Amino acid sequence: MRQDPRFPDLYILDHPLIQHKLTHMRDRSTSTRTFRELLREITLLMGYEITRDLPLATRLIDTPLQQIEAPVIAGRKLAIVPVLRAGVGMSDGLLELIPSARVGHVGVYRAEDHRPVEYLVKLPDVEERVFILCDPMVATGYSAAHAVDVLKRRGVPTEHIMFVALVAAPEGVEVFQRAHPGVKLFVASLDSHLDEHAYIVPGLGDAGDRLFGTK
Ligand code: URA
Repeated sequence: MRQDPRFPDLYILDHPLIQHKLTHMRDRSTSTRTFRELLREITLLMGYEITRDLPLATRLIDTPLQQIEAPVIAGRKLAIVPVLRAGVGMSDGLLELIPSARVGHVGVYRAEDHRPVEYLVKLPDVEERVFILCDPMVATGYSAAHAVDVLKRRGVPTEHIMFVALVAAPEGVEVFQRAHPGVKLFVASLDSHLDEHAYIVPGLGDAGDRLFGTK
């Protein structure tokens, strides 16, 4: 895990397996099917890192030799929230790791000025829950910041929110961290910049289109 001196809450997961898979995802010749599989696999690897500090509970079990209070993830206290639509490609992987987590959805689309327009919010009870927001791309940072706004409006405290993405642009990270200092942002790569259409360069193109095979 690497940090960038400009962004104190940004964590870059530079594990070789993650980087290798991301390279295949960036390659324009990678098929929709492979892109989807790779996103799932990267999310599993990233999920392993970002869940390091999750709260544990214990459960009484009998091993063949002894009864013990053994550690288990306090799963009901977790929620995974994909930002629609590309975030779904990551939430599936996270759910494989944490099958008992609740799942919320935040739907936003980009208006002409690249600002997010909200069209759907469905969330589980907020009470004491840790929320993992996911969206593969943090480009302008507006949608990511908006998704955190949605949670905070419902009363989720900063320290109970984390955001996981695949690729981010510095411009987007700047917007995100100015809006929500203290919210940890995990990415596989901090890319160079945004182009004039707010695409991440070098990026991987439109994550939603590549994931679902749309144009
Ligand atoms: N959304 C994407 O899917 N790709 C980008 O490069 C920017 C925003």
